[in-house]
Amino acid sequence: MTDTIAPHGGALVQRLVPAEERDRWMSRLPSLPRIVLTRREISDLEMIAVGAFSPLDGFLGEADYDSVVSRMRLAGGLPWTIPVTLAVSREEAESCALGRDVALVEESGKPLAVLRLAEKYRPDKRREAAEVYRTTEEAHPGVAAVYAQGEVYLGGRVTVLDRPSEVEFADHRLDPAQARALFAAKGWKRIAAFQTRNPIHRAHEYLQKCALESCDGLLIHPLVGETKGDDIPASVRMECYKALIKDYYPADRVVLSVLPANMRYAGPREAIFHAILRKNYGCTHFIVGRDHAGVGSYYGTYDAHRIFDHFSAEEIGITPLFYEHTFWCQRCEGMASTKTCPHPPEHHIALSGTGVRAMLSRGERPPMEFSRPEVADILIRAMRQP
Ligand code: ADX
Repeated sequence: MTDTIAPHGGALVQRLVPAEERDRWMSRLPSLPRIVLTRREISDLEMIAVGAFSPLDGFLGEADYDSVVSRMRLAGGLPWTIPVTLAVSREEAESCALGRDVALVEESGKPLAVLRLAEKYRPDKRREAAEVYRTTEEAHPGVAAVYAQGEVYLGGRVTVLDRPSEVEFADHRLDPAQARALFAAKGWKRIAAFQTRNPIHRAHEYLQKCALESCDGLLIHPLVGETKGDDIPASVRMECYKALIKDYYPADRVVLSVLPANMRYAGPREAIFHAILRKNYGCTHFIVGRDHAGVGSYYGTYDAHRIFDHFSAEEIGITPLFYEHTFWCQRCEGMASTKTCPHPPEHHIALSGTGVRAMLSRGERPPMEFSRPEVADILIRAMRQP
C-alpha cells in the first residue's frame, strides 16, 4: 500500500516489453506487414509505452473513439477527452489483416512496436474536429493535423519493443514510474504539475510559486513533442527553464522533466487530458491558467476551467488549481491577477505574444516585470541564430 495518487483507471499500464521478451518479438517481425509511423504517432506510442496514457494499452478502437469524441469518456465511462488514434491510408489498411500483428516502424525502418490489429474503421473527421476542437476550420493546427492524417483508423493493443531513435533531453526524462519513485524518495505528498509549451515568463513563475506555497514540490513539465511552427523550439525553452530554476527556484522543491507528447491545441479538452497525464506521473495537483492549451481565439479564456465541471473530482483524481489572468501590477508593485488586483488595466504590464516576439527579435529585453532578463537574453540569442 502506497500513499501516492492512483494512476488513471487504477493501474499504470506500461507497454514497453522487458529486454528478454524483446528478442522473441524481434524474430517475428520480418514476416509482418509494416506501417511507418508519423512523428506524432511515434510520440503517442511512446506515451502509451511508458504508461503516461494509462489506462490505454494501444490505439483506440471504434467504440472508445466514438465515446471519447461524443462524451469525453472511454466506452467504459472513464473520463478521456482526446482521441489517441493510429491513422493510415486505405491501401495500408487493406494490407493488414484483422486479428493479426502489424509492425509499427520508424521511417528509417527501425521497428518500434507490434500492433495486434483489432479494428479498422473510418472516422468522421469533421465530427471529430467539431467535437474535440470546437471548430472544423483547417486554420486550427489540431484540426489540420486530424485532416492531414490517413482516412482509416487502426485500433488495437500495442507491444512496444523500443523507444524512438530520437530521444531528446535525455537528462530530463522521467517516465511516470520514475517520477513517482522520485517524488516518494523526496517524501513529497502534494505535487503540483505545470504544463507548458512556452518559455516561463513572470506570469508562469507566479502561478508555479503560488502552487508551491501549498504543495511540497513542483514538477515543471514542458511538452516537447510536436508543437506548431511558430512556437519556441523545445531546446531553447529548456535552456530558459534551466536558467530560471538555477537563479530563482529552491532546488530541492522543483523537478524539471519533459513530457514527450504532441500539442493538440484543443483548449479545454486538452486541459483535462493534460491533467490526467500528470496524474499518471504521480502529481496530485495541476495548474490550469488562462486559455490553457488554446490557440488563436477558438476558446473562451476560462473554458479550460469550466470543463472540469463535467466530471466529478473523484473521477479526475488530480486536483486542478485554477488561476485567472496574471500580470505585474505597478500599483500593487507585484504579480497579481484579475482576481486579486483592484486596479484598472493601464497599471498592468501585459504584453501580447506577438509584441514580445517583436521586441526579442529587435534584441530588446521585455520589461523585467514581464520576463526575467536571464530568460530574455536566451530568447534574443536564439532569435538571432539563422
Ligand atoms: S499551454 O498551451 O501549455 O497551456 P503556455 O505554456 O502558454 O500554454 O501556458 C502554460 C500554463 O500557464 C497554462 O495553464 C496557461 O493557462 C497558463 N498561463 C499562461 N499565461 C498565463 C497568464 N498570463 N495568466 C494566467 N495563466 C497563464
